Amino acid sequence: MTRAEAEAAMAFGAGTSAGGARPKFTVSRNHALWLAKLNRHTDRFNEVRIEAAMLDLAAACGISVPEHHVAHLHAQDVLLVERFDRIMTGAGLERRQMVSASTVFLSNEAAAQYSHTGSYPRFARELSRWTITGEQDRRQLFRRIAFHALTSSTDDHERNHALVAEGHHLRLAPAFDLVPQPGHTRRRYLALVIGEYGALAIRENLLSSAEIFGLSRAEANRLIDEVQHIVRSQWRARLAARDVCPSDVEAIAHCFDPPSFEAPPA
Ligand SMILES: Nc1ncnc2c1ncn2[C@@H]1O[C@H](COP(=O)(O)OP(=O)(O)O)[C@@H](O)[C@H]1O
Ligand SMILES: [Mg+2]
Repeated sequence: MTRAEAEAAMAFGAGTSAGGARPKFTVSRNHALWLAKLNRHTDRFNEVRIEAAMLDLAAACGISVPEHHVAHLHAQDVLLVERFDRIMTGAGLERRQMVSASTVFLSNEAAAQYSHTGSYPRFARELSRWTITGEQDRRQLFRRIAFHALTSSTDDHERNHALVAEGHHLRLAPAFDLVPQPGHTRRRYLALVIGEYGALAIRENLLSSAEIFGLSRAEANRLIDEVQHIVRSQWRARLAARDVCPSDVEAIAHCFDPPSFEAPPA
């Protein structure tokens, strides 16, 4: 953390560190707890603003995301994301149990015997074991995967998905850490395997697993079309609304609705 970053943390009243790659801390504001994420001085882009716009775009695509804002502090942008694992109630702070997909994968010894890494199909199956909202959560997860693929947000590893307790039951937590990963590659890969063609971020690969998510091939296709249409028609406006500077917009433009998504598997 640079001095300026540390100052920002101090001004907010730095709390516990939540883990992950970026400098961050927890702040209390407006009767809620927020995860505050800062830009790193080594960042090529204003990730704070881009991540805020990505959360906006995801919400427009029907993906559940936490409430979020961009704040300014000591001439720095700070992304505030409401914590879904800590709820302020009249009686005080309520802790909600949270489990990462990584823990979910490790917990199933029988499955772990065959594979040391998780995958989206495995996560989808585990949702039925861990939650009573499995059917709904699986569809929501499929929508999220389509969004990851259509925005090249390919840092979607197993610590960037979670379950969170709601009352006495766990359910799929809202999406977080959605950031496009620029790179002019012919093929793009998700961080987790999704279908017959491994982690390849193409429509056909997502469709190959549709059934595991409780979707027919036609339903999955329609869902992908819907996300694609919203990404295609709104990404620029969403970045502009968060004041992402034009050079950053151009640097990540190729991440949105990439032609590689429609490429054949071969
Ligand atoms: N809104 C949230 N509420 C509670 N925990 C969160 C929230 N967003 C992220 N986390 C937790 O904090 C960790 C780091 O956040 P993340 O956004 O992934 O940051 P990074 O970009 O550093 O990876 C996540 O892996 C997750 O465990
Ligand atoms: Mg993360």
